[in-house]
Amino acid sequence: MLPDTAPGASGGSTCLDLPTRRATKCLARALASAIAPGDAVILTGALGAGKTFLVRALCRARGLDASVRVVSPTFTLIREVATVPPIAHADLYRLTSAEEAKQLGLLELRDRGWVLIVEWGERHLEAIGPDSLMLSISLDPRRATLTASGVRSSALRDQVAACFEASARAISGERCSPRQ
Ligand SMILES: Nc1ncnc2c1ncn2[C@@H]1O[C@H](COP(=O)(O)OP(=O)(O)OP(=O)(O)O)[C@@H](O)[C@H]1O
Ligand SMILES: [Mg+2]
Repeated sequence: MLPDTAPGASGGSTCLDLPTRRATKCLARALASAIAPGDAVILTGALGAGKTFLVRALCRARGLDASVRVVSPTFTLIREVATVPPIAHADLYRLTSAEEAKQLGLLELRDRGWVLIVEWGERHLEAIGPDSLMLSISLDPRRATLTASGVRSSALRDQVAACFEASARAISGERCSPRQ
């Protein structure tokens, strides 16, 4: 982890290395344990970075049955996932206007206690609302950068980073049984 802010600070970024798919699953589990009703996480990164892979692992970690497929809602734009709290998985790649994004009602879902996980949401911040956590996955090397924009997203960022680090330590020490 390469934090560039003091733990607990508002705003700022934290980087987490994702050298393997197992590491991405660890990050998904860390996120799954930290999210609370009303949270919003924006996933950015190149095509094939692993955004949908992360969402799938997150939903599984929140108890979604393995028989339920988790795919990117590229055409339906938003997909409701029956977890507790419920997750709204959106993919805004195809959206071009702010008005279209607003009409999806993401803010209202958040107000009603849904967790928003939004792929390609960085161009539609107003429709997603304030204090969302930006999780950007880069390639070469594969790495997640978590950027907070307020008090709640800073707490979420720090909790995710701490949980991820603990899992990574356990794996490198061969002390945990991986749940791949
Ligand atoms: N840490 C990792 N190391 C190597 N491969 C990974 C890692 N994380 C995910 N992957 C792989 O990356 C592939 C692409 O993932 P995914 O389809 O989730 O990308 P995406 O970011 O949603 O792309 P798109 O924007 O095109 O929808 C998956 O096959 C997955 O197995
Ligand atoms: Mg995808």
